[in-house]
Amino acid sequence: MIEVRGLTKRYPGRTVTRNAVDGIDLEIPEGKLVTLLGPSGCGKTTTLRLIAGLERPDAGEIRIGSRLMCAPAEGVFVGVHHRPIGVVFQSYAVWPHMTAVQNVMFPLQSGQKRMGRTEARRRAMEALEMVGLAEFADRPAPALSGGQQQRVSLARALTREPEVLLLDEPLSNLDAGLRDRVRDEIRSVQQRLGITTVFVTHDQDEALAVSDEVVVMDHGRIVERGQAQDIYRCPREEFTARFMGISNSLPGTVQEGGQDMAEISLAHGRLRCLTPAAAPVGSRVNVFIRPESLRLSRKDSSGRGWKGTVEFSIYHGDCWDYHVRVGDTLLRSRMYREKVGLAHGDPVFVVPEEETAIAIADKIAASDGAVADKDESWAK
Ligand SMILES: Nc1ncnc2c1ncn2[C@@H]1O[C@H](COP(=O)(O)OP(=O)(O)OP(=O)(O)O)[C@@H](O)[C@H]1O
Ligand SMILES: [Mg+2]
Repeated sequence: MIEVRGLTKRYPGRTVTRNAVDGIDLEIPEGKLVTLLGPSGCGKTTTLRLIAGLERPDAGEIRIGSRLMCAPAEGVFVGVHHRPIGVVFQSYAVWPHMTAVQNVMFPLQSGQKRMGRTEARRRAMEALEMVGLAEFADRPAPALSGGQQQRVSLARALTREPEVLLLDEPLSNLDAGLRDRVRDEIRSVQQRLGITTVFVTHDQDEALAVSDEVVVMDHGRIVERGQAQDIYRCPREEFTARFMGISNSLPGTVQEGGQDMAEISLAHGRLRCLTPAAAPVGSRVNVFIRPESLRLSRKDSSGRGWKGTVEFSIYHGDCWDYHVRVGDTLLRSRMYREKVGLAHGDPVFVVPEEETAIAIADKIAASDGAVADKDESWAK
């Protein structure tokens, strides 16, 4: 278990001092894998380095297990070598003048609690076995592929049997095929050992694939957190919806509210949408629709189609993306089977799937409304 309270880290900038991490509260439950997901510069690496003890926070507390690792207010700071952690970075950081097994043995033979060569080798071989690299033990590190080198650094991080594993974009230097294999390896080892893990990534697919829980970050803060399925199916915040790649967004008004669902009126028609928070009748929302939830057809047999014109299409191998102009909005529709055969300028009907789009309260409209109300009361 990792517990973080009010964690803050400032870096002096050229003109202003910025909070790279801005008062974060976080719990990583025992044995779970939690990802920190967010765009470049949102503070993921800084958070991870603070947990690792590679940086000192300006404020806040970090606990691993029940032990306090740092609390600047009380003058507590446990250094990186004394924290029960294993760390894997984006650059594999394996030592090129050593073999795979020597790389993994190294941490066991250094520091205060160093062990003998035979025991260190036995433990290192166990760790290499765990990541499927036992047969490459005596290969010089530079003669291993990128994916194998990254697995060596994973084995090295695991060899001291840490309580906590910290991974900073461990897959981003690998090519696509290898990335999936190393990702699966990491998740499989993590689940087998039941090791509490923080995984940093800016890739939403990667985050969904490996996580028990996803923490979405922006500007040094947590935007929202939840189980991977919930973050994907029904994000609560616009930032998350956009970051998860839900590219179609349309303004609308709540016609009928309900528990988790509401009837929304849009410029082109009505649509039943998921609502992550209470959606009062008459309130303004933005409706986020996944491209795969917009079907295209030449005829409007359902009577619910929105009339549009094809602008262009993009081929992705397993699917096609059609960009369709409906009124003054450009919508993206994803088709997995090419049966429409549409070209630029073709008229088409866009049929939105019911109960998969997400209606999120329009905060700007809501705050404008508040100002308008105030103005009104002032006028009285
Ligand atoms: N040593 C440093 N000195 C000054 N500013 C820093 C330092 N390290 C990070 N920052 C700033 O802190 C903010 C957060 O950086 P951080 O590296 O944590 O982001 P990140 O989410 O890991 O981004 P990326 O996805 O690009 O790795 C950024 O604005 C960055 O420029
Ligand atoms: Mg980073």
